[in-house]
Amino acid sequence: MPKTPLTLAAIGCGGRVRTYTELAATMPDRYRVVAAADPDPSRLQLMEKLLPVGSLRTFASDRELFAAGKLADILMIGTQDAYHVQPCIEAMRLGYDVLLEKPIATNFAEVRALELEAARLGRRVLICHVLRYTPFYTLVKSLLDEGVVGKIATINAVEGVAPFHQAHSFVRGHWGVVEKSSPMIIAKCCHDLDIISWLADAPCEQVSSFGSLDYFNVAHAPAGAPARCTDGCPVAGTCSYDAHHYLGKERHWLQWVFKGGIEADDESVREWLRTSPWGRCVYHCDNTAVDRQTVNLSFANAITANLTMTAFDNGRSLEIRGTKGVLLGGNAVKRFTGHDIAVTTHHDSQTTYHDVTVKEGAYQGHGGGDFGLMDALDQEWQKPNSADMRSSLQRSVESHAMGFAAEVARVEKRVINLRAYRTEV
Ligand SMILES: NC(=O)c1ccc[n+]([C@@H]2O[C@H](COP(=O)([O-])OP(=O)(O)OC[C@H]3O[C@@H](n4cnc5c(N)ncnc54)[C@H](O)[C@@H]3O)[C@@H](O)[C@H]2O)c1
Repeated sequence: MPKTPLTLAAIGCGGRVRTYTELAATMPDRYRVVAAADPDPSRLQLMEKLLPVGSLRTFASDRELFAAGKLADILMIGTQDAYHVQPCIEAMRLGYDVLLEKPIATNFAEVRALELEAARLGRRVLICHVLRYTPFYTLVKSLLDEGVVGKIATINAVEGVAPFHQAHSFVRGHWGVVEKSSPMIIAKCCHDLDIISWLADAPCEQVSSFGSLDYFNVAHAPAGAPARCTDGCPVAGTCSYDAHHYLGKERHWLQWVFKGGIEADDESVREWLRTSPWGRCVYHCDNTAVDRQTVNLSFANAITANLTMTAFDNGRSLEIRGTKGVLLGGNAVKRFTGHDIAVTTHHDSQTTYHDVTVKEGAYQGHGGGDFGLMDALDQEWQKPNSADMRSSLQRSVESHAMGFAAEVARVEKRVINLRAYRTEV
């Protein structure tokens, strides 16, 4: 008998929800997107363009969508970080299961509140930790499960945000002011901590962290640089962060933040840069997000791990050392060998290379994870125990605890006992 497609509704129709909608639209026998809410009519129009004519009910806000009752099996929540928990709890009370964008919340107390409410109501919540669904991390996990490195001893991961990406999102953009969004280690690196948690496969026990915002501040502003790149900057043209790059090699960012999108004519982009946050000099912003941070973790099974987040590299890298061998993967390996993963066994020093095929995106994007998540979603919904979904709320709470504890450790300059931290919260 043919399966009935899962129905999806959405609130917050920014880049994330539109990506999932676009993918769902390519799998009409598995998913139907039936309703969407956003206060910005242009975003609802973009949603309508992705779907068969007349198939989408639109609403001007989440309030209106909720007032219409339960309209679908799953609600996708793609609002900004500070507005995840409230609509998620409301949706679950209406009977929805939820596909919730990361981060779950902007503080750990709210993460716990959501976890408890989901358990009380028996709702299924999948967090969009899309890296778990990439061909790359799927292969790393299966190689480790096969025992290619023996018993894992240490995990080292690097997340190179990339300088212009840092400037766009974490200096000028939505996540620049931590107090209005989430700490950097959550906003950008909850994915990386989640992967470490998945690979370590044991409860995390202790967390320490160091980091600061050292570069993107007034101390590094070129002499005479005005508050906006559009105000006649003496280093315009040679500065890597010149906002005029949005007219050229960095134009692709416009699709997420500028209503005109990448097709807009240059004069409207110039006009927008004169007033929008993305026209500001990166050394003269109100940003508080760190541009470097390291996190040290120890797990109950004796694995130790380290994550380095830096604005000053591009892409993710991974080094896993075990009792029988070493697995290196990601950007650093690709750069030097042309392969995705290199596995070396200690005793014979033989190196085996592994490669993955990414259907969409690359390491710099989500490495095929957006597709992977949508491709897995209906199967995840079949799992009898929702906690067993690859990126379930229950699993994601564990990695969010690591991230929020890391931020406390960094700010308070102390080592956090994770069990005590969770109990306190
Ligand atoms: N999984 C990932 O890899 C990944 C990547 C980037 C961003 N994110 C996360 O996804 C979320 C969304 O990011 P984005 O870039 O799509 O954001 P965005 O700012 O482009 O979109 C958010 C949308 O929410 C809408 N909105 C605001 N209030 C609303 C309300 N009351 N009801 C309905 N809609 C409302 C806004 O108008 C906007 O269109 C963020 O939390 C972000 O951190 C996840």
